[in-house]
Amino acid sequence: FDVADLPLPLGGFPAVRPRRLRTTAAIRRLAAETHVNPANLVLPMFVKDGVPEPVPLASMPGVVQHTLESLRKAATEAVEAGVGGIMLYGVPTPESKDATGSIGIDPDGILNAALLELRAEVGDSTVLMSDLCLDEFTDHGHCGVLAEDGSVDNDATLARYAEMAIVQAESGAQMVGPSGMMDGQVGAVRAALDRSGHTDVGILAYSAKYASAFFGPFREAVESSLEGDRKTYQQDPANASEALREVALDIAEGADAVMIKPALPYLDIVRRVADSVNVPVAAYHVSGEYSMAEAAVANGWMDRDRLIVETLTSIRRAGAQIILTYWATDAARLFS
Ligand code: PBG
Repeated sequence: FDVADLPLPLGGFPAVRPRRLRTTAAIRRLAAETHVNPANLVLPMFVKDGVPEPVPLASMPGVVQHTLESLRKAATEAVEAGVGGIMLYGVPTPESKDATGSIGIDPDGILNAALLELRAEVGDSTVLMSDLCLDEFTDHGHCGVLAEDGSVDNDATLARYAEMAIVQAESGAQMVGPSGMMDGQVGAVRAALDRSGHTDVGILAYSAKYASAFFGPFREAVESSLEGDRKTYQQDPANASEALREVALDIAEGADAVMIKPALPYLDIVRRVADSVNVPVAAYHVSGEYSMAEAAVANGWMDRDRLIVETLTSIRRAGAQIILTYWATDAARLFS
């Protein structure tokens, strides 16, 4: 038979041709439903005490532990690329770690010293944020202080977080990121900031943070001393409603923005949270997600630029307005 004699399918097809909106780059751009702006991206950065040169991280190709000098330079580059925020992590010397993470609360400790320098460098041109947690500073590597039986003592930890929040605010952090998953941490940090006069310092709450294998490379990045896991405080990957509960509690306690972490394995959570709250929602494309992608790129299995654009677009499309990503500077260039 002759193909031309076939009747047209029912329903108006092919008078309706979705492909028309895909014909040229210009029309695809016009029709795109999701855009990622550099301003939505936050660059997590590591700064290490006592090293003369930046230290490359084997498990995170392209990411380094900065010296104060290289930190300033990389932060300036990020700002010039239009990156919306910087999230800072400190890596103290192993000798300075103790059971209660004192070096994290010391104004001269690496994280606080770096905040001070960085704020002087970037001013208000980006949003300077600091990780508010004990794990980088404790000799046992847990996110809190330990009770006598070795368990993480929630309420004793809150007191340390409160002190930490004040020091970080005084060092120039404009938003603090409590990431230890202690109950009541946002309320404790909010109260400490308010009572010390830092009412303008915001809280980006790591609200739904899962006990995840995807944090693996990060443990090298901060030289974590942890043995064991964080399953008694971070969330079970099996749970979704629990994330909504954590988010609701954090907002009630005063969180200015809430975060889901990791990102790609939890996009369903990002979507549910984004549909149910009226504060900005952030998602953290974490170390393991980054390293998996970079490993594939290094093997020639995937195209880096396309991977970055598609990955971050998918996180944005799921409802995250703010995305923390180690790709932030490169991605800002790709999206501008
Ligand atoms: C805790 C913290 C972690 C990450 C961010 N903040 C590690 C953990 O909870 O074990 C992980 C970030 C990443 O993997 O990129 N201070």
